[in-house]
Amino acid sequence: APIDVDPASYDAGEHDSFMYKEMLEQPAAAERVLRGRLDERFGTAHLGGLNMDPRETRAIRRVKILGCGSAYYVGQMGAALVEELARIPADAEAASEFRYRDPVIEPDTLYVAVSQSGETLDTLLAVQEIRRKGGRVVGLVNVVGSAIARACDGGIYLHAGPEVAVASTKALTNMFLGFALLSLQLGRVRDLSIADGNRLIAGLARIPEQIAEILQREEELAEVARRLAGSESLFFIGRVRGFPVAREGAQKFKEISYRHAEAYQTSELKHGPLALISEGVPTVAIVPDDELTSRNVGALHEIAARRGPLVVVTHEGVDLGDVDAMRIDVPRNERELDPILLTVPLQVLAYHAALHLGHDIDKPRNLAKSVTVE
Ligand code: AGP
Repeated sequence: APIDVDPASYDAGEHDSFMYKEMLEQPAAAERVLRGRLDERFGTAHLGGLNMDPRETRAIRRVKILGCGSAYYVGQMGAALVEELARIPADAEAASEFRYRDPVIEPDTLYVAVSQSGETLDTLLAVQEIRRKGGRVVGLVNVVGSAIARACDGGIYLHAGPEVAVASTKALTNMFLGFALLSLQLGRVRDLSIADGNRLIAGLARIPEQIAEILQREEELAEVARRLAGSESLFFIGRVRGFPVAREGAQKFKEISYRHAEAYQTSELKHGPLALISEGVPTVAIVPDDELTSRNVGALHEIAARRGPLVVVTHEGVDLGDVDAMRIDVPRNERELDPILLTVPLQVLAYHAALHLGHDIDKPRNLAKSVTVE
């Protein structure tokens, strides 16, 4: 079977919007990005398109990820994966800012450009700036043969299929999985054990079905979304692995519900934004079951004490104490892979809030699917 969906035959079908259709397509899209790339024999990933041999891969000292908007936020999730699995220092930066600060380009840094469309001008110009200065760039791109895909030294195609809605969903999920594959490969030429590699592989293989599980709880999520839609302003909070999830959740909410949704590190709340918490300002908190759970739960108490309504995206069994919250439990996987499963319910929240408010889901005001101007 062909790996990609034919764009010519792509329409919203029985669905009210492309965004809705694309959210539902995520389990199948996730399977496509993983297909043929997981190698259980050696506990690694096969990514022939990177065009890098093991010696070159080992020589990488730093990873710098560049993307815009949601691609930048998933890039932050990707940087965490690279650091956790490959133990290579990694960070993500907004591609739209990168070239304006006259960046130092290092030969032993691997630059990664992330883009659904492959046509975002800011990301393309960042790639060209790096290559002009002799750096190596690989692309995590969805659209085959796009400008960014062609400008890179190599890459990983995301195989999400055509994405029409301005609010990106399935392409972002596949970006995350693309980063997991890249991190696995970078890790396995270094110190990641074959056992740990296979632990991740087993986790990745469970992701499509776990995304489907979350999507099946649409009605419950729609009810939460309708309650959030009534507020003019809300916070999305998370820390470390959960922070880019909060940023992406706020981004999606802003884009299509037009509500003021602001992402903050949970740890930063007490340094300012707590002043805004009140009955009318809900918080969506990302509280995975990890080494920071009890600290995160402490912050929930701070919010509840100021009567801030709470939605908590967490795992089954996490004890939130006596905090009064609308709770969304996502399936458990390996901790490193949690961010993507924590992100999916936030897409559904944004979608249902926008639907409830009667907005155009696929074409939000003032936004274009791909920004090809400076
Ligand atoms: C996503 O929901 C946004 N519409 C937007 O932030 C987007 O991710 C960004 O413009 C980058 O687009 P790209 O992935 O096509 O480069």
